[in-house]
Amino acid sequence: METTQSEQLFKEALEVMPGGVNSPVRAFKSVGGTPITFKRGQGAHLEDWDGNRFLDFCCSWGPLVLGHAHPYVRESIEKVLVDGWTFGTPHRSETLLARKVLERVGFADKGRFVNSGTEAVMTAVRLARGVTKRPYILKFDGCYHGHLDSMLVNAGSGLVTFGQSSSAGVPEEIAATTLVVPLDDEAAVEAVFKTHGDKIAAVALETIPANNGLLYQRPEFVAFLRKITREHGTLLLLDEVLVGLRVQPAFAFQHYGVEPDIVTLGKVIGGGFPAAALAAKAEIMDHLAPNGPVYQAGTLSGNPVAMTAGLATLEVLFEQGGWDRLHAVAARFKNGIESGLAATSLPVQYIQTGALFWFSFDSEALPRTADGIGKPGIARYAALHRKLLEKGIYFAPSGYEVGFLSTAMTDADVDGAVATIIETINECYA
Ligand SMILES: Cc1ncc(COP(=O)(O)O)c(C=O)c1O
Repeated sequence: METTQSEQLFKEALEVMPGGVNSPVRAFKSVGGTPITFKRGQGAHLEDWDGNRFLDFCCSWGPLVLGHAHPYVRESIEKVLVDGWTFGTPHRSETLLARKVLERVGFADKGRFVNSGTEAVMTAVRLARGVTKRPYILKFDGCYHGHLDSMLVNAGSGLVTFGQSSSAGVPEEIAATTLVVPLDDEAAVEAVFKTHGDKIAAVALETIPANNGLLYQRPEFVAFLRKITREHGTLLLLDEVLVGLRVQPAFAFQHYGVEPDIVTLGKVIGGGFPAAALAAKAEIMDHLAPNGPVYQAGTLSGNPVAMTAGLATLEVLFEQGGWDRLHAVAARFKNGIESGLAATSLPVQYIQTGALFWFSFDSEALPRTADGIGKPGIARYAALHRKLLEKGIYFAPSGYEVGFLSTAMTDADVDGAVATIIETINECYA
């Protein structure tokens, strides 16, 4: 594969940005080699500066559920641009998107738009603390909620449940307000509530944890979290920045039949532009400024371009048959990969939920906790990633990341990719 242009462009990027990137995983550290610099994306395909073409299973880390440069989304944005792109005032597109998103969320009366998933979770955490007047947040080892200080926290050692900061620059005093427990472990959660129950503002969970492989949780575990939080006056914060509108035509909490107190959303709802949100019942949301004492703001929050992109994306998904197409692509891909793997005797586990998928090259059973993912599996993924690139398939450059499907994939794209992926997995074990 020719990579001269990507190498040169990355060399230039390295001179002016730490690691040559604006988000660490893009640097290919986990898979090795030089990151590909893309020039354009159309539909399901990406093209780089060396003229290589790839079928895209990363979809800009999730937002591009319709693939690249979808014509309806592009035309909708173009129309808005004619009238200007930001006013710092209320704009009709905010209300339209809020209505559409809330329709899908169901339980919530109000939402607030922000620019990134990190901001949505940061606001939700502050809101939970403001509402409950309690200091602690309980999170789960292996869940990612963005790069706010109080979520950049790992499990402490042994029986210590107070977190340890996972990044330099996060003071231990802040890390100590986050309690970290393993996923899939009711007893651990119970023990923490026994000691600290009256101080926990919120329990935060990625409804289906999908940032450390795809750690599908038992419905009983999610229901248990709902129950124990209610018993202790703690809010349940379900983070759907990644899984929202990817698993079913609404949100993953509906799949579990569990209603959170606050939900955070991102990625798909911005259609590939910077937009994310939190939503809850009015009695919670009205604690936010200007109605209540919990401060939150943003110069470009709810800007017309991102709102319009989100709105157009949801229109295509839910009013123009997009969801049916996504469902068909997902079913075809799942069927193909599962039968392909069944025909081998390789120790590879596969999980797909809706339009998200992940391969585990480690365990005999699919893991439900972060401990189930090991270095050998991640190394195996690195080899797979490189070989797939050479065959025109772009997977996320880290074995911890899930794959994303898009409506832009044709049946022929799916069938061709399935054959290539299965063949390449076989090569990796040869
Ligand atoms: C579950 C979850 N929460 C929060 C975030 C942070 O979102 P952003 O990268 O938009 O800040 C992510 C990002 O991948 C995520 O997957």
